[in-house]
Amino acid sequence: MRAVLECSIVRSQKEIGGGLFHLEITLPSSFPVPDPGQFLHVRITEGREFLLRRPFSISDFRQRKGEAVASIIYSVRGLGTSVLLRKKKGESLDIIGPLGNGFKIEKATVHLLVAGGRGIAPLLFLGRRMREKGIVPVYLYGTKTWDSSLFETIFEGKASKLTVGEAKQLGRINVRAKVGMGSLVLVSTEDRREGFKGKVTELFLSLLKSKVLDSQTIAIYSCGPTEMVRKIARISVDSNLPCQVSLEERFLCGIGLCMGCSIPVKEGGLKVNRRVCSDGPVFRAHSVCF
Ligand SMILES: Cc1cc2nc3c(=O)[nH]c(=O)nc-3n(C[C@H](O)[C@H](O)[C@H](O)COP(=O)(O)OP(=O)(O)OC[C@H]3O[C@@H](n4cnc5c(N)ncnc54)[C@H](O)[C@@H]3O)c2cc1C
Ligand code: FES
Repeated sequence: MRAVLECSIVRSQKEIGGGLFHLEITLPSSFPVPDPGQFLHVRITEGREFLLRRPFSISDFRQRKGEAVASIIYSVRGLGTSVLLRKKKGESLDIIGPLGNGFKIEKATVHLLVAGGRGIAPLLFLGRRMREKGIVPVYLYGTKTWDSSLFETIFEGKASKLTVGEAKQLGRINVRAKVGMGSLVLVSTEDRREGFKGKVTELFLSLLKSKVLDSQTIAIYSCGPTEMVRKIARISVDSNLPCQVSLEERFLCGIGLCMGCSIPVKEGGLKVNRRVCSDGPVFRAHSVCF
């Protein structure tokens, strides 16, 4: 896919809860339409300490009259993201994108989108693409603590093909279900205050064991902290379920030139090195040597 270097303009920036921020940028209408799972490589500022761009998954992309609007959802980690947080409406941002290879929508009856924290970003975009194809995504979202404003913001909406009644069948594993946006959203909290009490990996296991998913063909898509993604990948591979994972290595060039993001991957019985930035960031779980 074609990637371009663009000067984008900050359209809006707001805190959405759970320690996450939502940044919307305006791009020329010629900006290539990204696939869910692809990322933008953002140059935060001109300063020498920011020679390296920072990668952020695209959480949404829309084309409007004469312009394109892309969104990212991020948490503040270090210097780069703290500077990003100070960017105001109307300021410019230098980006390259869309980069990398994204998610492929599998042939399945149930599509489980398993996210932890800010890993929800690419899966929101994937879910929207699924709904455009008439698929109802089922989100399993794990956070440290319940934050209703976050859930209202990111999972807003109404119609769903899955009924609340179906969601209630999951009550015995104590899931807080929210039907919104044509999606079913099941939440787990680590402080055990709301929803499924525990980690999203435990919610995932409980759901796989539940009768609700019996006789369904299931596909998994996951993004989040490395340890969480590794567990989801392991469970999926052990259960013989197709699973794609988005990996977050540290990037240097971000465009496949420096090999700084290489990871070992199994291909045709051999172990080979693949670049997360340009061969991924989305990989089939069974191929990754975690
Ligand atoms: C393909 C891809 C997609 C990403 N999508 C998102 C996203 O949608 N939202 C979001 O908030 N973040 C995302 N990240 C992580 C994001 O790029 C880093 O958090 C960011 O670069 C940190 O920049 P900084 O200057 O603030 O932190 P730095 O000062 O560079 O580092 C501060 C801390 O962040 C950690 N960190 C730095 N880079 C990464 C990384 N690539 N992955 C994980 N931890 C990192 C460091 O280990 C350190 O602990 C993504 C990373 C990749 C590779
Ligand atoms: S970061 Fe340079 S090849 Fe991936």
